[in-house]
Amino acid sequence: MIKVKNLVKEFRNDTDVLRAIDDVSFEVNKGEVFGIIGLSGAGKSTLVRCLNRLEEPTSGTIEIDGVCINDLDKKSLLEARRSIGMIFQNFNLFNQSTVYENIAYPLEIIGMDKKEIEETVEEMLDFVDLKDKKNSYPSEISGGQKQRVAIARALATKPKILLSDESTSALDPANTEQILNLLKSSVERYNMTIIMITHQMEVAKSICDRIAVMEDGRIIETDTVENIFKSPKTERTKSFIKSLPDVLEDEVFDPEDFKGKLLRLSFDSSTAKRPIMNDLIKTSNCTVNLLSGNINRLRNGDVSGYLTIELDGSPEDIEAAIDALTRQNVVVEVL
Ligand SMILES: Nc1ncnc2c1ncn2[C@@H]1O[C@H](COP(=O)(O)OP(=O)(O)OP(=O)(O)O)[C@@H](O)[C@H]1O
Ligand SMILES: [Mg+2]
Repeated sequence: MIKVKNLVKEFRNDTDVLRAIDDVSFEVNKGEVFGIIGLSGAGKSTLVRCLNRLEEPTSGTIEIDGVCINDLDKKSLLEARRSIGMIFQNFNLFNQSTVYENIAYPLEIIGMDKKEIEETVEEMLDFVDLKDKKNSYPSEISGGQKQRVAIARALATKPKILLSDESTSALDPANTEQILNLLKSSVERYNMTIIMITHQMEVAKSICDRIAVMEDGRIIETDTVENIFKSPKTERTKSFIKSLPDVLEDEVFDPEDFKGKLLRLSFDSSTAKRPIMNDLIKTSNCTVNLLSGNINRLRNGDVSGYLTIELDGSPEDIEAAIDALTRQNVVVEVL
């Protein structure tokens, strides 16, 4: 339902041209949560801002439900924007207005009558579980609550698409989880499509269906969340994923510190459920030392995880153990 073709965005000043988006094409299906990850400056925010023309694309086309967004005049653009909500890292609430007024604002803009506004705001307050805060000001509520107000405001006009630019980056883990659950229910309840910029691995894993990796204004890889994390196609994606902040830092091992070979094993749903480590320990002549592990449940119910192990034994035995793991469909990386 969202089709972006050959999108280019250049920023010009008197002397230079900066190509922030460099010939990007992708499609997002209805009801999908599409993640965008990449280093700072890669062009993620610019790309997302082009989708509702907060940023005017230099060239290329953006089609939403068959309507080309590029060609819309001012009036039609304002109308189209109603169907695209947006939330940000710093919430962007109106500090002089109450929670109620913040959520009512976009409805007033579109000229909804007072009674309908009241009903809609109440519905949204209920959805984000903030009925008791409706008369509070943003300064009187927590970060997680502010983001819930921002979500209620963004969803009040019942948009088809929600753009989320690092919406959980400023939140602690408990609030992050609450916001993610809310976004997941929005997809189900309002049949929404979400485009989600994030630098948090667990956020991408828990909510996204597919992920695009951006670098220097280009999408270098797009795949299911499972494939992006388990078997990225490019070295650049792989090294980027390793640099994500929630790869647990205290679990970075230096192979020099170990006698045996250090292996990182990646599991997916099929492999995570089989007793692979048990088989390895029973059948291999190596000593197996478990160092760290992690398993995540993905949005579609699948699981994805890794295990770092030390294998000690003769080179032939280590080779045989790696072979056995690979045959079981485990992705093995020698560290
Ligand atoms: N209004 C602007 N004028 C000029 N250059 C801009 C403007 N907005 C963004 N840029 C440049 O475009 C490039 C992409 O910026 P963008 O904000 O899209 O990156 P990002 O991937 O969202 O980064 P971050 O993760 O830090 O938010 C950067 O080099 C940035 O400096
Ligand atoms: Mg950004």
